[in-house]
Amino acid sequence: MFSRVSRLGARFLREAMAETGAGNLLSSQGSLYQGHVSRHSTPVVTPSVLPLRNILFSTATSGDQGESSQQKEKISVTFVNKDGSEQTISVPVGMSMLEAAHENDIELEGACEGSLACSTCHVIVMDVNYYNKLEDPTDEENDMLDLAFGLTETSRLGCQVIAKPELDGMRLALPAATRNFAVDGYVPKPH
Ligand code: FES
Repeated sequence: MFSRVSRLGARFLREAMAETGAGNLLSSQGSLYQGHVSRHSTPVVTPSVLPLRNILFSTATSGDQGESSQQKEKISVTFVNKDGSEQTISVPVGMSMLEAAHENDIELEGACEGSLACSTCHVIVMDVNYYNKLEDPTDEENDMLDLAFGLTETSRLGCQVIAKPELDGMRLALPAATRNFAVDGYVPKPH
């Protein structure tokens, strides 16, 4: 009986020591293994991910800014001439339609050069949606418009219509052609 207890005790001790030794070994290997991975994985992963993310991010940002500032700088305006022909031009934001027409050899007279003393820069905004986006005409402009040939509901003086981003795509007719557009769409042939 005693010897059986001793054998069992000795076996228990051996197993306990074996387990402790294995545990130390595992612990030691585990810590070495982790150190090994971290030393090698850090330089491989980090440099390849971070710079790529930075490049993609900065490229997208600068592209968006470029696009929006370009949209703000110039708008597209189409003039419909007296003979029905059309000219689409780029107009810098802040420039009047009279100045833009003169720079592009469009036949818009503008005898007083924008000082609200004539009505020869009369234009007709062909889409009422664009007309509604314009600043309201001053009393002086309305007085001059009353003298204009072929006045319509969407008539304005070209020297008072200033380019702004919301007017991109606007179409302006010159008066002699406009009366025909307004009535029946007939476009007179050049003489
Ligand atoms: Fe004379 Fe516009 S150019 S009022």
